[in-house]
Amino acid sequence: MDGAMRTGLKIAHVISFLLLLGSGDFQVRGLRVTGKDVPTEALRGENVTIPCLLSGVPIPLNLEKLSVVWTLRLQNGTEREVYGFSSYKHTPSRIGSHMNDKDLQLGNASLFIPNIQITDEGNYRCFVIFTPDSRASTSTLQVSVKPQMALSHNQQVEGGITDLSVVKSAIVTQKL
Ligand SMILES: *[C@@H]1O[C@H](CO)[C@@H](O)[C@H](O)[C@H]1NC(C)=O
Ligand SMILES: *[C@@H]1O[C@H](CO)[C@@H](O)[C@H](O)[C@H]1NC(C)=O
Ligand SMILES: *[C@@H]1O[C@H](CO)[C@@H](O)[C@H](O)[C@H]1NC(C)=O
Repeated sequence: MDGAMRTGLKIAHVISFLLLLGSGDFQVRGLRVTGKDVPTEALRGENVTIPCLLSGVPIPLNLEKLSVVWTLRLQNGTEREVYGFSSYKHTPSRIGSHMNDKDLQLGNASLFIPNIQITDEGNYRCFVIFTPDSRASTSTLQVSVKPQMALSHNQQVEGGITDLSVVKSAIVTQKL
C-alpha cells in the first residue's frame, strides 16, 4: 500500500465512523427505557399497570436477548424482586403480577399488578437487559385507602335489616 492509499483508507474509516454516529438512534444511543415521572396513584384493591417502555431497539424484539427485572424499593429502603423475565421464562414474585410475550416483543415491559395493597407502595425499578445494553427506569406507586367509614356503616345497617327480615320470614314460614 502506498501512502496515498493508506490516507484514503483512513479517511474512509473516519467517514464510515461519522456515518455510524449519525445513523440514527440505534447505533448512537441504543436502548432507552422510559417509566413515568409522576407517581401512579391507586386505591387499595384496584389493579394498576406500572409503565416501562423500551425504545431505540429494533421491533419486534428478539426475546432471546431480553431480560427484565422489576424490583420494589419500600420507603424504609428494603428492596425486593417483584417480577422477572429471562430466557423466555416469567417469574412473578408478587402474586398475580403479569407481563406477556406479545407486549414485550413490542417493547412494552409494563407490569400489571392486581388488587393493590398498601404493601405494594414504593419505588418500582424496571431493569432491562437487551444484550449487550442495559438500562433502567423507575416509577413511584402511591396507594391510598378510600375513606368510606360512613358508607360501610350504612351498608352494615342495611345488611342487618335484610338479615332481620330473612329471620322474620323464616319464622313466618315455620308458623305456616
Ligand atoms: C421494611 O418494611 C418491610 C415491610 O413492612 C419489612 O418487611 C422490612 O423488614 C423493613 N426493613 C427494614 C430495614 O426495616
Ligand atoms: C403496555 O402494556 C400495558 C399492559 O398490557 C397496556 O396497558 C399499555 O397500554 C401498553 N402501553 C403501550 C404504550 O402500548
Ligand atoms: C383486576 O384484575 C383481575 C385479574 O387479575 C380481574 O379479574 C379483575 O376483573 C380486574 N378488575 C378490574 C376492575 O379491572
